[in-house]
Amino acid sequence: MTMTPGRAPLVVASNRGPVELRVDEDGRVVENRGGGGLIGVLGPALASRNGTWVAAALTEEDRRAARTRESGTVVELPEGAVRLRSLDLDRQDYDGYYRDISNGLLWFLHHQMLDPAREPVIDAGLRESWRAFRRINARFASACASEVAPSGRVLLQDYHLSLAPRQLRTARPDVGIAHFTMIPWADPATFRALPPDLATELLDGMLGADLLAFLVPRWAEAFVATCEAAGYPVDRGRATVTDRDGRRVGICCLPVGVDPDRLRQASAGAPAEAHRRELRRLVGDRRLVVRVDRMEPSKNLLRGLDGFAELIGRDPSRRERVVHYVLAYSSRQGVPAYQAYDREVRRRVQLINERFGTPDWQPVVLETRNDFERGLAALTLADVLVVNAVRDGMNLVAKEGPVVSRRDLALVLSTEVGAADELGDAAIMVHPFDVSALADGIAAGLDMPRAERSERLTRLRKAAGALPPRQWLAQAVHELDQRLARTEDPRTD
Ligand code: G6P
Repeated sequence: MTMTPGRAPLVVASNRGPVELRVDEDGRVVENRGGGGLIGVLGPALASRNGTWVAAALTEEDRRAARTRESGTVVELPEGAVRLRSLDLDRQDYDGYYRDISNGLLWFLHHQMLDPAREPVIDAGLRESWRAFRRINARFASACASEVAPSGRVLLQDYHLSLAPRQLRTARPDVGIAHFTMIPWADPATFRALPPDLATELLDGMLGADLLAFLVPRWAEAFVATCEAAGYPVDRGRATVTDRDGRRVGICCLPVGVDPDRLRQASAGAPAEAHRRELRRLVGDRRLVVRVDRMEPSKNLLRGLDGFAELIGRDPSRRERVVHYVLAYSSRQGVPAYQAYDREVRRRVQLINERFGTPDWQPVVLETRNDFERGLAALTLADVLVVNAVRDGMNLVAKEGPVVSRRDLALVLSTEVGAADELGDAAIMVHPFDVSALADGIAAGLDMPRAERSERLTRLRKAAGALPPRQWLAQAVHELDQRLARTEDPRTD
């Protein structure tokens, strides 16, 4: 079935949109900026490009607005205006798609965090969720199909929308389609946790795109190797995988960076300044070890806390002289694994504070509010920033911290995050499972001479700002255009 084209030359689709409508305590409808790394990239990138953003309506108010404004609405972001088309989706289908498949299954699969003794369980319930995943992807595909102009471009974001490229191609064969994986990709052996029918549908869905983008080479290579193991012809020289119809699909890497100007401005603003004053009061003249994450198992908060505990446990001279500030803002609380993790993190913090704390000193301060400026303020004051994720597509906090630092922070960084490719030379690298190495890394950061911190920071900053969001989006469109040009001219393909 083909559809009547729309008018947008560029359409971006993602599960979470740039803003959420909520009813505040006084009963007024207020607009909140959506959370998560992806939004911080897409918002600045899409603003003022005459693009349309398709996203799920996530709150009751969003759903109401989506029903009354089916043609979309214009949203003013700090970086400019975008047109937003929110989708009012069936609640039960949405749970199957978001909670069970996107985050209960695919997230942990690609982060290689499924426990083979217990997960996944592919039963009738999960298969029903998979059908819901397919239906919601189809809703996104059909909204994009009705928005995009003839021969326009559609950029589909992330693992939530893995099936949409194929569905969109069927509806609108005239448009250029790119799909972006903003998380890691599982190694081929791990990917085999998916039964063959689901694995095939997923790969076939993604290969409906013209271009598949990943954040760093290791995730792109893992995808190519997965396709190869599943029997798709791959050409590493040309960076293509051939789909079931004999069409070459381009594979590329776009390591997104942060926008230094925007971040410095935000970190110098009044809200961040107020948070800074409060944090200074909290910490006094002690050294500050900071982390800023979603409350998320893959971020490795428990081992992070254990590493800090090992440090103050084995070296009493550090006690009373350092505070570990942990901002772990609440996330995906509908997914059971996240609820359990949240409880465990709080318990671990309590145990450390009970064991080491004194009347004048609370070793770990845990906060769970989702407040971007609060996080920025903490990053400006950090002596050491800890990013020890088990595995991460990129990790933008590792890039934001160095950019806004006012104390020449030392970065302690997991070897398993995408950002390690660019920042590894100037950071203190640790294996995410090695708690003792983390304790050593934090100590090394605290003890590092000022001149060395500052020299390393200069290099971190340079790497962090390498491909900021606007250029990242421009580059993505450019790569897609090039891919389409090659497909049209068989001599070059
Ligand atoms: C993280 C990932 C993104 C993902 C987002 C979804 O930020 O890096 O790739 O799209 O989570 O988060 P959400 O809160 O919408 O589930």
